[in-house]
Amino acid sequence: MIDVKKIREDFPILSTKVYDKPLVYLDNGATTQKPRCVVEAEREQYYTLNANVHRGVHFLSQQATDLLEQARCRVRDFVNAPSEKEIIFTRGTTEAINLVASSFGELLDEGDEIIVSEMEHHSDIVPWQLLANRKGVVLRIIPFDEEGVLDQTVYKSLFSAKTRLVCVTHVSNVLGTINPIKEMVAEAHAHNVPFLVDAAQSVPHMKVDVRELDCDFLAFSGHKVYAPTGIGVLYGKSEWLDRMPPYQGGGEMISTVSFEKTTFEGLPYKFEAGTPNYIGSHALALALDYVESIGMENIEAYERELTRYALDHLSEIEGIRFFGNAPDRDAVVSFLVGDIHHLDMGTLLDRLGIAVRTGHHCAQPIMTHYGIEGTVRASFSFYNTKEEVDVLVEGIKRVSKMF
Ligand code: ALA
Repeated sequence: MIDVKKIREDFPILSTKVYDKPLVYLDNGATTQKPRCVVEAEREQYYTLNANVHRGVHFLSQQATDLLEQARCRVRDFVNAPSEKEIIFTRGTTEAINLVASSFGELLDEGDEIIVSEMEHHSDIVPWQLLANRKGVVLRIIPFDEEGVLDQTVYKSLFSAKTRLVCVTHVSNVLGTINPIKEMVAEAHAHNVPFLVDAAQSVPHMKVDVRELDCDFLAFSGHKVYAPTGIGVLYGKSEWLDRMPPYQGGGEMISTVSFEKTTFEGLPYKFEAGTPNYIGSHALALALDYVESIGMENIEAYERELTRYALDHLSEIEGIRFFGNAPDRDAVVSFLVGDIHHLDMGTLLDRLGIAVRTGHHCAQPIMTHYGIEGTVRASFSFYNTKEEVDVLVEGIKRVSKMF
């Protein structure tokens, strides 16, 4: 059970007003708000434990290093990775995927194939296109149907002797579809092909276990799971990471440097050039503690109930059209009402204090699929309430009457 009233007290921003209206924050797919404990721990570390990590013999540096390495272990446990060496801190999901595209990409040759899906966020499309331009790699696309479900028959037919990697999102940031990642990974492995999961939209909402999924890479962002911006994670199986060349060069990722030859550190440091965001990683660890103190099962159950409630009540609105209707779906609802432009709807809802996202949501191929420019998207967190959903529904009805 979730005590939403108590939880909301941990998020001061939720009691603020915009345009003199109580804030109804329904843009959690873009970023989540931060609980007091995370913000205060971050400030406290700057005040009392700030020093660069791994570099100094002095007390503060060692304390900061310990916090960074404890955070790595915290993330390892959170996703159930076998080793903390397989946890690489990045700026976010986008950088994690770019790391793999750049580094794993070095192992590929012209004509090699990568399978991605039609419902990917641009951050799981464009890095592969850049690689395609650089290396002559070919992208193969898994389509989705009108309900927003990936076509598994086509997926299976896309494998060839040249397939080198599959990259699919766990949860669509537009359609809310939860993809059957475990089965899709098994299919890829049957062809000896590794699998990358974009877990940006799943890690905040459900228990994600890399050993259960058996995925080879998994990326997520701290800021979508109640941690600060600028910190994210790449999990990778060491059997792949060991084979991959460094992503960026710099301090700390090396073993020895001379002008003749440089040798690199082992995992995970080989992939962490430069001063890492050690304050962010500690804050991420605390955010993970926070969500686990609520319980991922509780979060999932509550958010699903809230999404069901939202879908039921939004359906009453005349002319509403939903995008994404998968049987297995997460806390995201995308829609349009009649011929009201998504931007007009979003702007007018904003004046009522309701924060939603509008536009293509960095997933333009999904828009192309439906022949639209954009949608309005409400995305939920465990701190949202049914009353807030009611405010959304009433707000949309009010805006609809203006047109
Ligand atoms: N990927 C984020 C979203 O879906 C920014 O809003």
